[in-house]
Amino acid sequence: MDTVILELKDLRKQYPGVLALRECSFDLRPGEVHALVGENGAGKSTLIKISTGVIQPTSGTIRFRGEPVVWSGPRDAIANGIGAVYQDPAVFPDLSVAENIFMNHQPHGLVSRRIFWREMHEQTEALLERLNVRLDPRRKLGHLTAAERQLVEIGKALSGEAKVLFMDEPTSTLSGAESDNMFEIVRQLRAEGTAIVFISHRLDDIFTIADRVTALRDGVHVDTRKIDEVDHDTLVQMMVGREVKNLFPKTEAVIGDEAMRVEKFSRSGEYQEVSLAVRSGEILGLYGLVGAGRTELAKSIFGITRPDSGQLYLAGKAVTVGAPRAAISAGIGYLPEDRDEEGIVLDMDVCENITLPILASCSRFLGWLDQGKERTIAAEFAEALEIKSAGLGQKVGGLSGGNKQKVSLGKWLACDCRILILDEPTKGIDVAAKAAVHQLVSKLASRGYAVVMISSDLPEIMGMSDRVMIMHEGIVKGEFPREGLSEERVLAEALRA
Ligand SMILES: Nc1ncnc2c1ncn2[C@@H]1O[C@H](COP(=O)(O)OP(=O)(O)OP(=O)(O)O)[C@@H](O)[C@H]1O
Ligand SMILES: [Mg+2]
Repeated sequence: MDTVILELKDLRKQYPGVLALRECSFDLRPGEVHALVGENGAGKSTLIKISTGVIQPTSGTIRFRGEPVVWSGPRDAIANGIGAVYQDPAVFPDLSVAENIFMNHQPHGLVSRRIFWREMHEQTEALLERLNVRLDPRRKLGHLTAAERQLVEIGKALSGEAKVLFMDEPTSTLSGAESDNMFEIVRQLRAEGTAIVFISHRLDDIFTIADRVTALRDGVHVDTRKIDEVDHDTLVQMMVGREVKNLFPKTEAVIGDEAMRVEKFSRSGEYQEVSLAVRSGEILGLYGLVGAGRTELAKSIFGITRPDSGQLYLAGKAVTVGAPRAAISAGIGYLPEDRDEEGIVLDMDVCENITLPILASCSRFLGWLDQGKERTIAAEFAEALEIKSAGLGQKVGGLSGGNKQKVSLGKWLACDCRILILDEPTKGIDVAAKAAVHQLVSKLASRGYAVVMISSDLPEIMGMSDRVMIMHEGIVKGEFPREGLSEERVLAEALRA
């Protein structure tokens, strides 16, 4: 099939201080899944935002169905059948699932303009059913997990009868089984003739779903290939321009004394009778499907919510952590799953964000904050994590999705918390930087940190954990030591109802 539905020619996008795209071209055909890959900050999301009218290119042209077009805004693109699942979607936590999905096109009476609630809820249910998701259309979005919200976003993109669908990292918070479910939906849409652009940092995703793949590097189109013409290493080479080694560089660490023990934590509707212990030097992997209760458990350990019952012990002593501030001073750090809302301050710069939790520990002399020390620490982690920015003074709001993730990660790795709970630490992070993150976490463990790593990325769980615990619907289903760990066993436990 040689028809092209969307063609981007010589796109250029200049942000203040950053050239995000330079003479970048791309074409898309009906009935294909075209993967877009590249390192954090390569320009993928920028390309999508230009294609969907969210931002205007500095120069270059868009042709849609053969005609040159200039989108006046996102509504214009949506009206022409272009849908998108964005990487950082604008969601309204106080509105319901249905209201979020039908944000701009609620079914309503022609004269009275009254909203047809029942119709809207029915349509929402039908959409979610198509996605194989069980969610009450009336539930407030703020009460959903990040992954459930992701599924709502997909529903929203589909609600406009899209002919072209952009998906910017739709699987980043999903576990294997949930991604599989989503791939089914993507295949179905492809069979119906929808043209799909798919972004993911999980290369397995690309090989599973893509027909063609385009790599961007530093805003430049590197190559477009048929998926069966490339293998894993070629793909990485296209993205990074060099070989990437040492993914999951698990180093031997001396496993010391028990650092933290959770005994019989229960919280109604979230998790039941969960007990776990982690020792210094140890990485405990926490695996499960979305909704397994892992994030909810982490929030209670960190003092964001309170368990109904149960006891927390730190170094053998019973403690009660009433609030995150208390958790931090007790030496517990928590990288939340939902970074934009809980993890970073978009209005502050890279340096300020990274040093936020350690501000207290940076020495103050007669009330002067030691800014030099602050910058040194921030610079060290910005470099180790390969944060791509216009400098430490750049506001985090202007960073690419993956680079935002790195900032929030850096902030917890830099603080002195000896117990680290990392919720999806490499979500949205590119292959090369992922290796850097794993290396850092491994290094912290060998320095005696105790790490609880929540991840939906099975290879990451398998590669990094000393021990793996599996949760399912709020209950611990099993535990495996590193020896004899196999993907099949872990998956079987996670899926076992
Ligand atoms: N609003 C903005 N203001 C300034 N610079 C920006 C803005 N949005 C993006 N950039 C810069 O443009 C470049 C490309 O960003 P983009 O979001 O397209 O990357 P990406 O390929 O989607 O990366 P990721 O994998 O991390 O999501 C980055 O260097 C980023 O810092
Ligand atoms: Mg992006």
